[in-house]
Amino acid sequence: MIPADINQALVAGANRVGLFGDRLRFFSEVPSTNDVAMGLAAEGAEDGTIVLAESQTNGRGRRGREWFSPAVAGLYFSIILRGVYSPTITLMAGVAVTEGIRAATGVPVLIKWPNDLVVEGPCSSGKKSKISKIGGILTETCQVEGAADAVVIGIGINVTTTEYPTGFTVQASSLENEIGKKVERALVFIEVLAAMSEWRLKMLQGYEHAMLDRWSELAPMSKETQIQWVEGNESRHGVTKGIDNEGALLVFSNEKIERLWAGDVEWRDSAAQLDSHKGYDVIRN
Ligand code: BTN
Repeated sequence: MIPADINQALVAGANRVGLFGDRLRFFSEVPSTNDVAMGLAAEGAEDGTIVLAESQTNGRGRRGREWFSPAVAGLYFSIILRGVYSPTITLMAGVAVTEGIRAATGVPVLIKWPNDLVVEGPCSSGKKSKISKIGGILTETCQVEGAADAVVIGIGINVTTTEYPTGFTVQASSLENEIGKKVERALVFIEVLAAMSEWRLKMLQGYEHAMLDRWSELAPMSKETQIQWVEGNESRHGVTKGIDNEGALLVFSNEKIERLWAGDVEWRDSAAQLDSHKGYDVIRN
């Protein structure tokens, strides 16, 4: 049964969430909402179907990482979209989730390329600012006979105050940790759906450039920024030059512009521990 807080918020926000209003499938526990959504998409589930779970036993992050998903501590859901197959769909999801969280909580969430949801803490050492991750997005494509049939956008948002695993390049935090008071998860859920509904429509109407502009406003790396990343066994660094219209990150490095497609990049002064990234390659062309 859909939890009462989520149900009430869905009813109250019905006129803002568009097609997401009546397509929610709720589970108390699943291995991964993305896995369930991919299965449903392959069986022909409708555009706008949402799989929401109270907890995940095998929550998956990008690049094969685990997504910590204890019961009630966060929002774990996956949205099936059909008919929007742009390579920038994952950036659209980042914009929608960021706007939704901001609208629901006022937390000044930022996007770290490609779509980590982060908050910038106070400058503790005088010049370095602390970056904490409060959410992430895992986009997967369901293919039928070699062609994209549906896109599954998996969204994880850390909501309550919880002990998060340590040892990552970017430490996890939660909305409640950042704001210092209780956050209504249902409100966050509805605001994310409302923003997703709006941006999905704009993408379908051809306003992809407006979405990319909005992404750039919300992502500090769209401005010239010193970054570093690991490629094979090599530490690389460069200066960001924004994104292109396919969502690749443009980086000036070794006297030329490179296009980074996927992977992990870090701010050069954000206490990055590149060792923890060994084995993860940045894909570029
Ligand atoms: C990342 O930042 O690495 C992406 C994390 C995505 C986590 C969400 S939680 C809901 C959905 N189901 C999953 O197994 N993963 C995504």
